[in-house]
Amino acid sequence: MTRRVAVIPGDGIGPEVIREAVAVLRALRVPLELAKFDYGAERWLRGGGGIEDQQFVDFAENYAAILFGAVGDPRIPDQAHARQILLGLRTRLDLYINLRPARLLDERLCPLKDKRAVDVDFVIFRENTEGLYAGLGGVFKRGTADEVTIEASLSTRKGVERILRAAFEYARRPDRRRRVCMVDKSNALASEGDLWQRTFRELARVYSDVNASHLYVDAAAMQIVRAPEKLDVVVTGNLFGDILTDLGAAVAGGLGLAPSANLHPGRCSLFEPVHGSAPDLVGRGVANPLGAILAAGLLLEHLGLPAEAARVDAAVRRALGDDATTPDLGGRLGTVEVGQFVRRHL
Ligand code: NAD
Ligand code: IPM
Ligand code: MN
Repeated sequence: MTRRVAVIPGDGIGPEVIREAVAVLRALRVPLELAKFDYGAERWLRGGGGIEDQQFVDFAENYAAILFGAVGDPRIPDQAHARQILLGLRTRLDLYINLRPARLLDERLCPLKDKRAVDVDFVIFRENTEGLYAGLGGVFKRGTADEVTIEASLSTRKGVERILRAAFEYARRPDRRRRVCMVDKSNALASEGDLWQRTFRELARVYSDVNASHLYVDAAAMQIVRAPEKLDVVVTGNLFGDILTDLGAAVAGGLGLAPSANLHPGRCSLFEPVHGSAPDLVGRGVANPLGAILAAGLLLEHLGLPAEAARVDAAVRRALGDDATTPDLGGRLGTVEVGQFVRRHL
């Protein structure tokens, strides 16, 4: 059966890296029908707006997945379009799991001293619909000496429980090590901290075969650098997850290499590289496409095509091993050449 996949390249280097990821999907001859959408800064600035209400419904009802590049443009200083488009998709499609692996695919890329591939292999489960991203709050007396702003963090019992459950379930997979570490800041942020802590302890009793531990986010940041080998599945809130996943990408070889999945099991889910639109690289042909290509791999796995996903993985490892990489990873190739190399080695 042919399933539909929406492709949203977005801004900056988004289109450059998504072109390569799409070419990889086509080279695999998978039964997917790709449909491109031009949501992003250009369209927004033309007055075309963001994703229409009806289109969110169309994605949810008629698409199996979305392959997404990046959004962010210096011409829109507050990045309002990025919130409407990317955060809009995450919340409107209720993609509550942001799964971001930090996996060292080539030991030479690790910036940490004496760490091997087995030492850097953890997965961050980032809550993706609540927390400080809920848009709760506002501004009062803006631009005056009495200006007040409030940015409130939302945590619901349902939202906390489902992301923690997803992390525990994932830790049971045969390729994981049955360890879940919950990361929060409950020593300072007591109300939501208490909800996360209580729910975590309850679930730890249910998933008694899984080792459950806790770190405050400041200590977790240190642990990622000092002893990543102690981490298996890390579960945390939206903002901490955003920050720790860039750190995870860095210890696993670099931001240009990191993929992510925005999931709601059984529903249309979204796959994207962790990095942004990298305005400093646009048009130079040097953006690393491997994060986007690995995101396409996660999409294939999610759509029940694990053999194809494994071929993508192996071809990316081959590119790293043969130094067929862009300058951010120390190579001399451009975006298109790296994409071609991966396709040749599928
Ligand atoms: P960024 O991820 O775009 O770039 C951070 C650094 O990493 C830059 O030096 C960039 O050159 C480098 N980099 C990123 N991707 C790379 C790649 N594929 N190959 C080689 N180098 C790469 O983050 P930023 O500079 O903080 O943000 C730029 C814009 O992107 C902002 O508007 C931001 O809001 C947006 N953003 C969007 C997303 C997303 O769409 N998911 C994620 C992060 C940032
Ligand atoms: C990410 C990005 C987004 C986020 C931005 C663009 C809103 O940094 O996907 O990691 O904070 O979630
Ligand atoms: Mn981020």
